[in-house]
Amino acid sequence: MTSQDARRELGVLVNSKYPVIYIETWEEGRTTDTLALVAEDLGIPLYVWTVTEGLARAGGAPIYNTQEPAQVLAQISHMESDGLFLLKDFHKYLDQAVIVRKLRDLAQQFRRARRAIVISSPEIKIPIELEKDVALFSLGLPDESELNQLVVSEIRDLTAKFRIKQELTPDLIPELARALRGLTLEEVRRVLTQALLEGYRLDAGTIERIRSDRTKLIKDQGVLEFLKVEVGLASVGGLARLKAWLEKRRGAFSLEAARYGLDPPKGILIMGVQGCGKSLSAKAVAREWNMQLLKFDSSGLFEKFVGESEKNLRKSLQVAEAVAPCVLWIDEIEKVFPHAALGSESDAGLSLRLFGTFLTWMQERKSPVFLVATSNDISALPPELLRKGRFDEIFFVDLPSLEERKSIFSIHLGRRKQDAAKFDLEKLATAAAGFGGAEIEQAVTSALYCAFAQKAPLTAEMVLKEIQSTYPLSVTLKEKIDTLREWARLRAVPAN
Ligand SMILES: Nc1ncnc2c1ncn2[C@@H]1O[C@H](COP(=O)(O)OP(=O)(O)O)[C@@H](O)[C@H]1O
Ligand SMILES: [Mg+2]
Repeated sequence: MTSQDARRELGVLVNSKYPVIYIETWEEGRTTDTLALVAEDLGIPLYVWTVTEGLARAGGAPIYNTQEPAQVLAQISHMESDGLFLLKDFHKYLDQAVIVRKLRDLAQQFRRARRAIVISSPEIKIPIELEKDVALFSLGLPDESELNQLVVSEIRDLTAKFRIKQELTPDLIPELARALRGLTLEEVRRVLTQALLEGYRLDAGTIERIRSDRTKLIKDQGVLEFLKVEVGLASVGGLARLKAWLEKRRGAFSLEAARYGLDPPKGILIMGVQGCGKSLSAKAVAREWNMQLLKFDSSGLFEKFVGESEKNLRKSLQVAEAVAPCVLWIDEIEKVFPHAALGSESDAGLSLRLFGTFLTWMQERKSPVFLVATSNDISALPPELLRKGRFDEIFFVDLPSLEERKSIFSIHLGRRKQDAAKFDLEKLATAAAGFGGAEIEQAVTSALYCAFAQKAPLTAEMVLKEIQSTYPLSVTLKEKIDTLREWARLRAVPAN
């Protein structure tokens, strides 16, 4: 959301006499600036507190003896006037009973005036006792129009200060701003400055550089990755129904569609047999629809720092919203939200909270983020996720049919500079009964190694030999696949 929107909405909260406003944000600077504007709008003073300085009116000297959290609350309770009190990092003290008690008392007192305590924090930790007094507000990441403004003013400042060759045409400014979506204002400033000062020039190349800086920055945060996708749905063999579904919704994210009154599609779950093109399809959608692809990496969610998972999840979802329209791909979603973990005591409810956050987001998100979740093991998923309405559709990907195998052979031969028309696809596909797409690809590449070693052109016989020496997974996993099919027969739509 823009700081403008935040300014308006926060003003409304203060006027509605919420005693405590809890702002979820990674951007303390932006919060302080926004609150200063809110205070100005309302004609009330802004006070800022830090544990090192104590409480001070914005721009003024700190009030004596207000550094301690309990002291500052006592001080505030003695003050008569209206006002906003931004307590930085105060969430750290919300596990102390005395502090919580004092806050509750203050809340009672505040309900009669335009006074509010504002706590800003990147994580949401509100004690149950306080829940009724607290208005939760999410600042979100800056949106396109705010980024545009910032880009224009930063470029002006930087080019005035340094000798920068400005060769970026004004029509490219919005594109530059778009390349910065998903970052906080502070990150935006840093990335812009670095990019401009690297070669002391600003041109179309700078945008590329900024995009790759953003990719790296987000990746380092551990949970999300901006991916470039080379291939579209034409590189996916078979899965005609899935493709038709997607084809029908192409353009559903456009302005025209919105004017027409269409809601953008929310997302699909693709479940089914391993190695048959689930992940491939997820990626291809982004390319096909010409949208940015964001991959969600669950290992980053859990392993980075204990206790940071919730924060990381919320941040990732906000990044996706800031980048929208985009495709958010959650591969093997059963690993992110394993059913088994949800009821268990071992993680003190963390999995449950994460799952709750995610479901709420699925339900309430406003930005056009098309979610594509893939899963190999549906039995490991919490049933709540599969309930009607969570996804637009649940697709089941089965082993490819004869015709589908033919087209998969053709795709993979073609991708390796072979003329598929010269191969007896019928024969190959017949021999590869029970093979998945990945196994078909493997047969083609292995045969190519042979051909290369023999310094001979690739022949159907070489591929056939590879097929015959492969024992496809579908044989070993027959029971598992049967169970999947049975499950899917009742609950999913066939993708093939
Ligand atoms: N239907 C298909 N069409 C073309 N290639 C496929 C297909 N299915 C699998 N492959 C090949 O196998 C690789 C692995 O498949 P993937 O989509 O990751 O399988 P999974 O269903 O397990 O997610 C793909 O990158 C692709 O090269
Ligand atoms: Mg996969």
